[in-house]
Amino acid sequence: MGLPGFAQTGAGLSIRAAGAGRGILAGCAVSVRALRSDAAYKKLLEEQVGIVVAENEFKFGPLRPSPTTFFFDDADYLAAFAEANGMKLRGHNFVWHRQLPKWFDGYVTPTNAEQVLVSHIEAVGGRYAGKIHSWDVVNEAIQVSDGLPDGFRDSPWQKVLGGTGAVPRYIEVAFRTARRVDPKALLVYNDYGVEGEDEGSAKKRAAVMELLRAMQRQKIPLDALGVQSHISAVNKDGRVPVYGPGLMAMIAEVRKMGLKVLVTEMDVNDRYVAAEVGARDLAVAQMYGSYLGTVLQDRAVIAVLTWGITDKYTWLNGEDSRADGTAERPLPFDAALQPTAAFTAEVRALDGAPARD
Ligand code: G3I
Repeated sequence: MGLPGFAQTGAGLSIRAAGAGRGILAGCAVSVRALRSDAAYKKLLEEQVGIVVAENEFKFGPLRPSPTTFFFDDADYLAAFAEANGMKLRGHNFVWHRQLPKWFDGYVTPTNAEQVLVSHIEAVGGRYAGKIHSWDVVNEAIQVSDGLPDGFRDSPWQKVLGGTGAVPRYIEVAFRTARRVDPKALLVYNDYGVEGEDEGSAKKRAAVMELLRAMQRQKIPLDALGVQSHISAVNKDGRVPVYGPGLMAMIAEVRKMGLKVLVTEMDVNDRYVAAEVGARDLAVAQMYGSYLGTVLQDRAVIAVLTWGITDKYTWLNGEDSRADGTAERPLPFDAALQPTAAFTAEVRALDGAPARD
């Protein structure tokens, strides 16, 4: 469990403190259902993190039971928790192709889509204005394999409010409205699959960068890129994936554009690590160490969030898991809320990062 002298929580080491020591915000996604019902989980968050984001409760679907109503209870609960603990709060997300409400397809048309989008951002962004560190305004709008021009995803929003410009209308409207509604929040374009050295990742990086450049050319408000960082300890072919040169070149270009970078949803799946728990944890920890050790070298990277903090609630165990049927261990704390070697590696990487100004 961890490396000597590192594996304690409580008054001891914390991800938050390690980050704060370098001027980096460090935290995780939170399940509000677990926050309400699991006191040990709540205590761990209070001890460990300085920035939080709702895993689901700020998304369009969960917030919008019907075209005319909002459900804010869970989002309010997390906002109050963050405020009570002096934590920064992220918003995730205003626009996404998934977790849209059942009524969306039958109700949203090319005629009313812009009004639906603007009124959603006004209501949600307005409610938490001044309390949000950064909003994922648009999430995962690039999907090169969909075959649309410039690699855009053929999403429900693209269908009803896409347009033909270099920046789809829904993206422009979302960012402009978010800036108007909450001028203090950093506005983020968030995506996955840009981390690797494979051809698919390179193509996705190119399309994401073309979107960011086009947004700047059109003076559409934008402050940062969110790199989700759902990565693997070992690939299906048994080899350890390389994350670095392509990603760092993108981060450097983003920095030169005057933008920041956030690691928004990190986890390291051990789906293909064929070994016993100790060796699996070491493989996961080595990837936390090398990935964060590399990415945090660039001072444009201002925050690191893992997608959850304990294996007890990771989404990865809801997806296609390990062949041996055992649960994945992708996060800094295991299912018993005990620190793993990944916790040590994350704290060490934060400690070792160049201090932010
Ligand atoms: O809340 C309902 C509950 O009422 C119902 O009983 C239950 C059974 O159907 O479903 C619950 O909703 C689930 C929700 O998580 C809350 O637990 C949805 O079915 C389930 O699809 C949803 O999964 C979330 C997923 O996004 C949706 O696409 C995961 O928790 C969440 O970790 C995941 O997060 C995404 C990021 O937002 C964007 N990047 C990738 C990341 C992983 O897919």
